[in-house]
Amino acid sequence: MEVKIAENAGFCFGVKRAMNMAWDELENKGDSQVYSLGPLIHNKQAVDKYKEKGLIEIDSLDEIPNDRKLIIRSHGVAKKIYTDSQSKNMDIVDTTCPYVKKIHDIVKEFSDKGYKIIIVGNAIHPEIIGINGWCNNEAYVINSEEEINSISFNDNDQYCVVSQTTANLDSFDRIVEKLQSKIENLIVKNTICFATKERQLSAIDLANEVDCMVVIGGKHSSNTQKLVNICKDIVPTFSIETKEELELEKLKGFKIAGVTAGASTPDWIIDEVIEYLKEI
Ligand code: F3S
Repeated sequence: MEVKIAENAGFCFGVKRAMNMAWDELENKGDSQVYSLGPLIHNKQAVDKYKEKGLIEIDSLDEIPNDRKLIIRSHGVAKKIYTDSQSKNMDIVDTTCPYVKKIHDIVKEFSDKGYKIIIVGNAIHPEIIGINGWCNNEAYVINSEEEINSISFNDNDQYCVVSQTTANLDSFDRIVEKLQSKIENLIVKNTICFATKERQLSAIDLANEVDCMVVIGGKHSSNTQKLVNICKDIVPTFSIETKEELELEKLKGFKIAGVTAGASTPDWIIDEVIEYLKEI
């Protein structure tokens, strides 16, 4: 089988940076313990590899004693996590993606100035929970145009809208347009990360050149599942986490396979899949 790889696939800048920082900490930890608040990324195989190296995953700061090392993952966290960690005398390794950090700064700045914050994104995603924590958890979180109808805007208030880094640009634009028709004083900050868009555009280009697409990435990774949906509209598409999920029978009829991967898929998993496909 001929295999073509998308121009932009796999770890984005922010995830690569965070994973390298975390790995360095584990390499040099000696006898000390290193914790991460939640899984480092939405990729089970990568998370398992870091656990084997000694990373301890926790859901809340209450689960660990004082004076320990805590890795903050690339999604970022609420302001309260920093203050709570300081009061527990934790040694923080902050791997928050700089693009997410920028959103924290915007949200804090405008909320401090008295603006009401609107976040376009998925309310239960850790990135959004973190961003909301920089404006006292008072933001309106919306994910569709319809949800705007449930908010009663006040003409005397000023609003600032930001987006989840992985939001879809078209849908963000539509939401902003509707907000602008209802709000007089609205500051718009498009905080969508270009890495997501690049991966999507590369996937579309490649899907148009091949007989089938293989999209590698976590089943819970939203950017991976978006790639799957985009490719599905163009060619038959297989969504897998590792090469073990590829079914030979289903692949036999295709001559050229395209491969892409979500922003949290490590290179070693992508390479294994490519090798497997080439051998068919
Ligand atoms: Fe950062 Fe963009 Fe990746 S926000 S974590 S570089 S998808």
